[in-house]
Parts: sequence; C-alpha cells; structure tokens
Amino acid sequence: MDINELKNKFQELMEKVSDKKTLADLELKFLGRRGEINDLLKKIKDLAAEEKIAGGKLINDLKKEIEQKIIIKKKDLLVAGQDLIKRIDVTAPGSRVVSGHLHPRTQVLRKIEEIFISLGFSVIEGPEVETQWYNFEALNIPKDHPARDMQDTFYVKNPAGQEDLVLRTHTSPNQVRFMEKNNPPLRIIVPGKVFRNEATDATHDFQFYQVEGLMVDKHISVANFKAVMEEFFKRLYGPGAKIRLRPSYFPFTEPSFEVDLFCVFCQGKGCRLCSNTGWIEIAGAGMVNQFVFESAGYVRNEWQGFAFGIGFERIVMAKHKISDIRLFSSGDMRFLKQF
Ligand code: FA5
Repeated sequence: MDINELKNKFQELMEKVSDKKTLADLELKFLGRRGEINDLLKKIKDLAAEEKIAGGKLINDLKKEIEQKIIIKKKDLLVAGQDLIKRIDVTAPGSRVVSGHLHPRTQVLRKIEEIFISLGFSVIEGPEVETQWYNFEALNIPKDHPARDMQDTFYVKNPAGQEDLVLRTHTSPNQVRFMEKNNPPLRIIVPGKVFRNEATDATHDFQFYQVEGLMVDKHISVANFKAVMEEFFKRLYGPGAKIRLRPSYFPFTEPSFEVDLFCVFCQGKGCRLCSNTGWIEIAGAGMVNQFVFESAGYVRNEWQGFAFGIGFERIVMAKHKISDIRLFSSGDMRFLKQF
C-alpha cells in the first residue's frame, strides 16, 4: 500500500469515529507497534538507496499528521461528552439564581419621592462637597457665629487656595442654589447624603441622608406647611400617623419648628429610639427667613415659603422598626436581606 492510499484510508476511518473506543482502535491500528505506519517503515529497507531518505520523510510526515488529528479528535470527544453529561444529568442540583434588591433606604426614598411628586413637588439634586457660603453664610450663619456649632463640620482643605469647602452638613444649601436659578412659585424636594463630625449612637450617624423640602409662593403660611407634612406622613405610614410641631431655632427660618413623629416602636410609652419621650425627632423646619430669599437674589418681603429637612434614616427606621441607624451603612447582609 502506498503512502497516499494509507492516508486516504485513515481519513475515511477517522470520519466515522464518534466515540473514544473507536478512536483508540484507530490509533492502535495506525500508530501501534504493529500498526500500519510501522509496517510501512519496515519496507524502507527494500527501496533503492536514493529513495530511502525521501520515502522515510514522507512516512514520518504522515505519522505526525495522524498523531495531530487523533489529539484533536480526543479533545472534541471530551467536550462533546461533557455537554452530553450536562444535558442528561437529571440528578445534578439546579443552579440558584441570586437576585439582588434595592437597599431599604432606596426603597423608602422612592416612596417618598412618589408622594411628594403627587403633591406637585419636583425632585432636585445638589453637590455633597459644598462651599462654606452655600452651607452657612447664605443661610444666615456667618463666620464665627455660635450657630455654626449646631452642626459639627468636616472641613475640606482646598490645595488650590480657593474658597474653603466643607462636606455639606445639611441639604439646606440647595434652597439658595435652586432659588438663584428659578423664580417662584416653586415646590422642590432635595434628597441627599450629609456629613457631621459627631459621635455615633443608635439614632445618630456621622453620615446620613436628609430630604430637604421648599415651597415658595405669594401667600404660604404655617398652615400650608402643616397640611403638607400631615398629608406626607399619613401617606407614608397610614392614616393613624401622628406628628407634632415644637418651637425651635434655625438661623434660616423664622419661626422655626422641630417636627416629631409619634413613636411607632413603643406607641408613645417611651423607648430607646424616642429617647423615652414617646416622640421621634424627625425634621427641622420653618418659614423661610427673608435673609435667605435675599441671598438667592429675591426682593425682601415679596415672597413667603416654608422649608424642612427630614432626617431620612429615622423615617425608614420608624417604617421598618429598625432599632439602630448604624445598620444602614454596615453592609451587613443579614440586615439587608430582610427587606
Ligand atoms: C437641619 O439639618 C436643618 N437643615 C433642617 C431644616 C431645613 C430646618 C429647612 C429648617 C428649614 P437638624 O440638624 O435638626 O436640622 O437635622 C434635621 C434632621 O436630621 C433631624 O431632625 C434628625 O432627624 C436628622 N439628624 C440630625 N442629625 C443626625 C445624625 N447625626 N444622624 C442621623 N440623623 C440626624
């Protein structure tokens, strides 16, 4: 049999191979000690001297080609076999699809936005790194005024020597930011992260969220403010939700209030979350000080409005009965998986 005939014969048989056993037989038949290739090599000695070298080379080339094809076929059969196992192994455990979900904070924020949008408010955003002017001065909190101590501040050193920046201590800077560019009537909420350089406990974190609210028009009064707040809390917690206003002080509102929510944990009996008062301090608020309107470029006494800054985590804590604010940023999956 000459080399070409042998090559064709191998090719023909190889095309029929569909399992490991036939492939092993084929390998033995062609490459085995007593296989076809060795048979041919034995015949070299019968060739004329000048044909021996060329003939030997042709046989060795064919041997290499056959070896290569057998290796490739072995790999193909292995992969096909694995696919087959996957397809037919009905006892293999099913792979579980792990689906994530929104952080409880985000879930409640979406709800809050939905409520305020339905009350005619727009949702606005502002920067977390803020100038001292927007965070303090524009809000009637001048440098060296004791009111700056109300919120412990993280100061940001600015190497370029420009105006000193802070991590915003509240979302209120967005009142002036928005009014500078927009004229009344206006209704906005501004949710966002705020930062305070203070020690933490069950109801205080050094980084938390607030939802600022601002409504400005010709004849806005405390009655409008109370109506919006009551409507908001009833829609969020149900018709039984109760709030109360307490007199307070903020340089940027006059008069100013503290908004308290009736404690859902202890039903007013007193617990850790409400510091045993039966009420959770949930927001600072008040009628916009005319100074703030002037900072934004409005004419004094032309407009009236109310503003509020809700402590957002406390709202979520009351909604889901969460007893420690620090759980929100803990990254603890046992906590997050409950929502
Ligand atoms: C302010 O931040 C004012 N900017 C609110 C305001 C806005 C008043 C508009 C008037 C007009 P205060 O520091 O009280 O106010 O914070 C508001 C709310 O944020 C608090 O009622 C409380 O619910 C929440 N809060 C304050 N400090 C913390 C803290 N460390 N951790 C978690 N929540 C906090």
